[in-house]
Amino acid sequence: MKILAHRGLSASFPENTAIAFQQAAKLDCWGVEFDVHLTSDQQLVVIHDESIDRTSNGTGFVKDLTLAQLKTYDFGSWFDVKFAGQKICTLSEVLAIFKDTKHQINIEIKSDVFEYPGIELLIANALEAFQQKERIIISSFNHETIARFQQIQPQIHCALLFASLITNLDDYVRNFDCDAIHIPYYYGMRSIIQRAIQQGIVVRAYTVNKKEIAEQMEQLHIDTIFSDKGTL
Ligand code: G3P
Ligand code: CA
Repeated sequence: MKILAHRGLSASFPENTAIAFQQAAKLDCWGVEFDVHLTSDQQLVVIHDESIDRTSNGTGFVKDLTLAQLKTYDFGSWFDVKFAGQKICTLSEVLAIFKDTKHQINIEIKSDVFEYPGIELLIANALEAFQQKERIIISSFNHETIARFQQIQPQIHCALLFASLITNLDDYVRNFDCDAIHIPYYYGMRSIIQRAIQQGIVVRAYTVNKKEIAEQMEQLHIDTIFSDKGTL
């Protein structure tokens, strides 16, 4: 089964940090997933939450801090003191870790709480520098972000992220130039999802850390799972 290492290898390493990505880059999994926010000085940084409180020794929202300020904090110790000194990564720093690998790279744009005006163009520009567009999948819970990104960069694959299901899912997806949706795994058995799969929509399911559930997803024709372990 295809696996995206969720937030890097986040079961064993502090999520969304360089060491979590370096370990994921060594794995023979299909790809990696991570989350991107925007700093007060318009820098793209890789972190899951809007605030740095949970995953660092600092406090505050990413949107209110500069990259230089964010770089002063420790993003490893909260997970284990042996990871003290891990710094927040920029998008370009994470892309550099995967420059010479074959992994697919799923960039989740976290614009669903704070909208980060202009984030789509900044990400498109960062991906121009990376060049390997065929390896990128852009996703977001904010579907306006997906529509804007598709306007700016129609060549890159996009996926709509859902936290819950909507009744007219297949019609809705057709409004976007998306070949994939990302859903919570427990919706995989729902008829709406099974119908979408029959209609050719690629369905990826998050977050699956148990082998039995991964096997169930395979039986349900889920294309890919997100796993904190990066392996079954
Ligand atoms: O992209 C799949 C999954 O990561 C979405 O949820 O909260 O882990 O970012 P979350
Ligand atoms: Ca995510």
